[in-house]
Amino acid sequence: MRNLLVTGGAGFIGSNLTLELQRRYPNSRIIVLDDFRSGDFQNLRGFRGDFIAGDISRSDWASRLRGHAFDAIFHEASITDTTEHNQLLQCHDNIEGFRRVLEFAAPNRIPIVYATSAATYGIASGIQSEEQGLLPANVYAFTKVQLENLARDHTRHDSGWKIIGLRYFNVYGPGEAHKKSAASMIYQLYRQIRDGKAPRVFRGGEHRRDFVYVKDVVNLTIRALSAPASDVFNCGSGHSFSFNEVIEVLNKCTGSTRPTEYFENPYSFYQPHTEANMNKAERVFGFKPEWEPARGIADYVGWLSKG
Ligand SMILES: NC(=O)c1ccc[n+]([C@@H]2O[C@H](COP(=O)([O-])OP(=O)(O)OC[C@H]3O[C@@H](n4cnc5c(N)ncnc54)[C@H](O)[C@@H]3O)[C@@H](O)[C@H]2O)c1
Repeated sequence: MRNLLVTGGAGFIGSNLTLELQRRYPNSRIIVLDDFRSGDFQNLRGFRGDFIAGDISRSDWASRLRGHAFDAIFHEASITDTTEHNQLLQCHDNIEGFRRVLEFAAPNRIPIVYATSAATYGIASGIQSEEQGLLPANVYAFTKVQLENLARDHTRHDSGWKIIGLRYFNVYGPGEAHKKSAASMIYQLYRQIRDGKAPRVFRGGEHRRDFVYVKDVVNLTIRALSAPASDVFNCGSGHSFSFNEVIEVLNKCTGSTRPTEYFENPYSFYQPHTEANMNKAERVFGFKPEWEPARGIADYVGWLSKG
């Protein structure tokens, strides 16, 4: 782990990953690639590596980096606003960006860990396992399915090249504030409570999500490199927590007693329940999430209240 490339490293997960890689491998050379479309330089406070600003689907980063012997590439760059419905833009930037990463890595079979998403499961509800069918419900999720298809195509006849996809569930934690309305519900609800407002959720508040703490996400992302072969893995907490339960924990951590405000759900379909089956990551590379939601939220609130 001497030479590492992180795309999307100014973003939420990418910056947490970059700083943890730097902490674990202090003698490594880390290069971050990002075009700041949703990232923020402030996430990289304390970063000692190199930074290349540019769009991975358009700029000439590959020729500039040719000759660097990378030990691994972590690909986090992506349009992450799922309400961006411009199909050409989503597909061009996300799919062509990844295709260029694959083309760059191919000659030396550089191992790649890339971010896909639980959004690939689409409207399927309940406990989600890697082998079930994918039903992307928006163009963002469609691009992630295409990433998985591309990775499979590139490794089908090449067992010597490792490309690992991670289906992240609902990630929360330090470094997500720049995502604004695309930040996690945990962050949105914390902000409402902190500002003295009532936490607001859809009527009932019983929709359940697999909220996974970014510390677990970073650990799993690094550990995934030890998977013996190319594959796709869920990356969740393995628990589901309702929005009401999130509010209960936030109230406990902040001392707020303001009642929750419920409002009509404007969506004709809204997933009632997501939950990652985490057996495969445990079986294949021994990863077990450490942060069940109540503990993760409490840790995060501790961090937020210092800021
Ligand atoms: N946060 C979640 O809950 C979640 C869930 C599922 C999947 N993911 C995936 O995890 C990855 C990281 O997401 P995040 O939450 O950190 O979001 P983020 O928006 O904070 O990070 C994405 C980063 O990629 C950069 N970027 C986007 N397109 C780029 C391009 N073409 N060239 C260069 N840089 C580009 C952005 O500027 C940003 O810094 C993404 O691939 C996302 O789709 C995140």
